[in-house]
Amino acid sequence: MPKILISRHVGDHAMSILSSSGFDLIVNSEDAAPSREWVLKHLADPEMAAMCLMHGQPSDIVDEELLNACGPNVKCLSTFSVGFDHINVKAANERGIKIGHTPGVLDDAVADVTVMLVLMTMRRVENGISLVKAGEWAQIPWAPFVNCGPSISHPSLTISFIGFGRISQATLSRLLAFTSTSHPPRILYTSSRARPDQVSIDQAFSEKFGVEIKRVEREQVAKQGDIVIVLASQNPQTVDFVNKEFLTWMKKTAILVNCARGPLVNSEDLAWALENDEIYGAGLDVVTGEPNVSADHPLVKSRKCVVLPHIGSGDYDTRNKMAELCVRNAINGAKGEALLAEVKV
Ligand code: DGY
Repeated sequence: MPKILISRHVGDHAMSILSSSGFDLIVNSEDAAPSREWVLKHLADPEMAAMCLMHGQPSDIVDEELLNACGPNVKCLSTFSVGFDHINVKAANERGIKIGHTPGVLDDAVADVTVMLVLMTMRRVENGISLVKAGEWAQIPWAPFVNCGPSISHPSLTISFIGFGRISQATLSRLLAFTSTSHPPRILYTSSRARPDQVSIDQAFSEKFGVEIKRVEREQVAKQGDIVIVLASQNPQTVDFVNKEFLTWMKKTAILVNCARGPLVNSEDLAWALENDEIYGAGLDVVTGEPNVSADHPLVKSRKCVVLPHIGSGDYDTRNKMAELCVRNAINGAKGEALLAEVKV
């Protein structure tokens, strides 16, 4: 009987879909990541046809070692994430193994957290909460400009996006509700390369959102943005995209928000920029090296930086939708059918 390996319980809804799939299920019964050995041992089973794996679980990193361990009938590895930076997709495809992921269903949830980080960073919420919790409120009594931050409805606001896919666009729709209607913000974005029909693409975006939207190069998103939002996928071209050079290009009054992957922003350079007032503040849902980010980390210690533990897609409905897509990809893949969402590189 063909089998599907599930490296973590994915919630009752998706587990019931798996249970009625007709496959034998090998489920990690612990409420913790399994060991790497457990994963490799089960993948080697000649009856294993597919696996549901988790982003952020070290046991599930899809590298040469894991691919070499796969038995002859493994046809699909399905990740419970839209991002696939933990997967060597090319090497998997070369072995005839499809990679499934969960695009689309988490756009709204990640956009919600991105907007939250924009507002928290602009209004200096990390500083405010820290001083209240440290019992320092009375030492900084009310005054007209105490604990203030830059205005999101400022009349000449520019919002820059690094990557302008679905999540950036969902973020923009939300942000427009906070910005000035009489003086709408200007939107800049950068993406891997300009297309020959770039002008009409930007015109279509501008019409869709009712504001001026333009693709520019890296330097201009940095120099002109009052709010710079990182929402691109991680690949060799985007690692360290925001580095010291980028941060020194940014306005001293600008904020940076990263809800993509930690390595797109160089942590040391960002800590330096915050410390030296090169930028106003930062909001991060992701940090290089996560989850091993200690309380001593300079970004965690900075009152100019909000750090969240990668909760972008973390609302219950979204996680259930991701779980369903993850298991349906695995079931289809195990049957040798087209996946609902396959990673193509
Ligand atoms: C994703 O789905 O890629 C989110 O970042 C959660 O890992």
